[in-house]
Amino acid sequence: MDALAMERRHLAQVYGQLDLVPERGDGVYLHCRGRRVLDLYGGHAVAALGYGHPELLAALNRQAAELLFQSNAVPLPVRARAADALAEFAPPGLARVFFVNTGAEANENALRLACRLTGRQRVAAIEHGFHGRSAAAGAVTWGARDRWYAFPRTPFDVDFIPRDDVAAVEQLVTGDTAAVILELVQGIAGAVELQPAFVQAVARACERHGALLIVDEVQTGMGRCGAPFATDLYGLQPDILSTAKSLAAGFPCGAVLMTEAVASGLGKGDLGTTFGGGPLACALVETVIRVIRRDGLIDNVNRLHARLAAALPLGPAASLQGRGFLAGLRLTRPAADVQRELLARDILVGSSSDPMVLRLLPPLILADAQLDELLEALADLPAGV
Ligand SMILES: Cc1ncc(COP(=O)(O)O)c(C=O)c1O
Repeated sequence: MDALAMERRHLAQVYGQLDLVPERGDGVYLHCRGRRVLDLYGGHAVAALGYGHPELLAALNRQAAELLFQSNAVPLPVRARAADALAEFAPPGLARVFFVNTGAEANENALRLACRLTGRQRVAAIEHGFHGRSAAAGAVTWGARDRWYAFPRTPFDVDFIPRDDVAAVEQLVTGDTAAVILELVQGIAGAVELQPAFVQAVARACERHGALLIVDEVQTGMGRCGAPFATDLYGLQPDILSTAKSLAAGFPCGAVLMTEAVASGLGKGDLGTTFGGGPLACALVETVIRVIRRDGLIDNVNRLHARLAAALPLGPAASLQGRGFLAGLRLTRPAADVQRELLARDILVGSSSDPMVLRLLPPLILADAQLDELLEALADLPAGV
């Protein structure tokens, strides 16, 4: 029986899936029934070090053999080391870490903290942003309430600020606002960078009104945008930063990073999770950060992004948007068609909510020869229908 038919037996049918059954991965390639597919999507920006990375596997195996799990009921050296490494990798001033399991859980906790610390009941978010599918994260996700949100009400009132509209910031961020949450490069929207002047206006409005600035770096973080975090590129000082996806490069892990000022408002029992900060995830966080630094992967991301940008226009790819390896190819033809044609040439790329933009979220270890494979395939595809 094929994999699709097997999945249909018992799994809830909620995903539109690609026609691809990966059996094994190594480096930036997936092996799928005799096909070797170049993975420029990385399982939704997760596989930062690709597949089968020897140090990642060694860290996982070592930690599994030593101590598979213990909760936050006990202190663990591996958890402490992961928090040290993350706080040092993070933008200055965000030196307190709370580990969770997913991006949505990180945002859920970030938003809860903001409401609690300010005592306010409004949150502002940016149109076209995505923050996850839980109650609070879904409430600040653009379009969720029309499509899948399903809860009878949101946990707070939400104002959506039109992207890059500075005047709207002045109107919508007020003394009633607990927090503004934003993605600096909107991922699912198609790798759309927010304008620095807009982001600065948001930061100033937050400061003026005592609202917290929450930067969602679930997709942008861990080197993907050509800096440890996109926050570094904007010279921002958020109160809270959420991250996940590439954080443990394939093992579920998220984190809420916060300033000492935010953390000082917390007491025992205010936040909690069973699995967050578990030893396997923490062993991987520590390893991912060490490998990114040691192997100069952030320079690699910037160099290859510049090479790709310089090669456009090429075939159906008109221009490049986004940063680093959170890149959007703006096309002259529908993205769904180009995605299918690239997959037929054994190259996997991601879609976005923009029907004319494909998303590239490759492992940070991508090499020149592998970028060449994409460039050759694009050159081979027609620019127009
Ligand atoms: C920017 C952003 N925030 C939050 C999330 C939610 O993360 P998770 O799926 O791990 O809950 C995502 C997932 O795509 C995301 O892209």
